[in-house]
Amino acid sequence: MSVLELYEYPHPILEQKAESVLKVDADIQKFLDDMLETMYASRGVGLAAPQVGVSKRIIVIDAEQKEVDGEYRQGNPMYLVNPEIVYKSEETILFCEGCLSVPKQSADVERHYAIKVRYLDYNGKAQEIEAEDYLAVVLQHEIDHLDGILYIDRISRLKRNMLLKKLEKYRQGLK
Ligand code: NI
Repeated sequence: MSVLELYEYPHPILEQKAESVLKVDADIQKFLDDMLETMYASRGVGLAAPQVGVSKRIIVIDAEQKEVDGEYRQGNPMYLVNPEIVYKSEETILFCEGCLSVPKQSADVERHYAIKVRYLDYNGKAQEIEAEDYLAVVLQHEIDHLDGILYIDRISRLKRNMLLKKLEKYRQGLK
């Protein structure tokens, strides 16, 4: 397994609609392994393929990972290929989100409280998951990436501009 390079805002691949996967073969499985390792290494809760420069409809999530002695351990890793939201609750939830592609920033985003997602698993088998609250938020955030949408596209223009200024300052500080 290997840790992949992260692509950050404003890289154009993050704004593209990703392509569906035709078959979950050995190459895709290796990519899923690498994505999960990259996610843990970056201390992310979820990761979408465009964030590592691959415009395919693939996400990995672990909303239950634990920190033990300063290291992140697997909780419940999930691999979702071609995920599709087939139900959204009317009820919404406001959650403070961050993103590995917009480092060190966060903002409150409104999401559906509960959703149902259809997808192919690691073995290419069709699955369905019902999620609510935190897991539903993470799934919506990651699936948005596959449609070229970042969470900063879902906040007000004013908040977005302020956040991007803070991002710029953070990056200046790294130089
Ligand atoms: Ni993200």
